[in-house]
Amino acid sequence: MATLLVVDSSPRGARSRTRTLTRLFAQRWREAHPSDLIVERDLGAAPPSPVDERWIAAAFTSPAERTEEMRRALAASDALIDELQGADVVAIGAPMYNFGMPAALKAWVDQVVRVGRTFSFDPADTLSPYRPLLRGKTAVVLTARGDAGYGPGGRLAALNHLDPHLATVLRFIGIDRIETVAVEFDEFGDDRVRRSMERARADVEALVARLAAERAAGEPRPAP
Ligand SMILES: Cc1cc2nc3c(=O)[nH]c(=O)nc-3n(C[C@H](O)[C@H](O)[C@H](O)COP(=O)(O)O)c2cc1C
Repeated sequence: MATLLVVDSSPRGARSRTRTLTRLFAQRWREAHPSDLIVERDLGAAPPSPVDERWIAAAFTSPAERTEEMRRALAASDALIDELQGADVVAIGAPMYNFGMPAALKAWVDQVVRVGRTFSFDPADTLSPYRPLLRGKTAVVLTARGDAGYGPGGRLAALNHLDPHLATVLRFIGIDRIETVAVEFDEFGDDRVRRSMERARADVEALVARLAAERAAGEPRPAP
């Protein structure tokens, strides 16, 4: 049995493109792996707090020296990290907002990228002072954009600060297998968005099938 964590970050409900894709991913996952656990984290409905001075002071104090107040300041972060640590696959609904990720998703990133929990820091290690602490997880980024051409080689690829940023932070904590499906043209509301959505749905279905086949074959994960 494995665990799928579904992280949504669109504040929109039924008309959200990313939620449509995360729902489809979870549904197909459930069909392929009926006994897996599916955990849902809705950042769009309940955004995590931005990190503040109390959080930072607590996170950079060694666990043995933390006061009760410091432990309280990290409680939400601990819960989000536990949830991520418990997952084998994390599907992240990530709308593009102003060329990057929505604030709620960035708040989640800031809560889960934490020294001593998801990465280690050894200032004496001159070659590699930062090391990831997570292993063996797959991230599936399900993203949506109002315009089009943000994919590799596209007209607006250089303005896409969402996919590279998310990939950098995920790799920083050790999630080095990242699969991405994107919907574009949301703001045009015409045939192009419908076609893009159809393609994205097909990509999600194919991705779930591919991950299921790999799991059935017990294949080692391909190198990133
Ligand atoms: C605050 C805000 C900022 C946005 N910024 C961009 C942007 O920089 N580039 C873009 O192509 N679309 C942008 N969009 C459009 C969204 O990416 C698009 O509507 C997407 O479908 C949102 O995801 P959702 O459908 O899951 O809510 C923006 C939308 C909002 C509400």
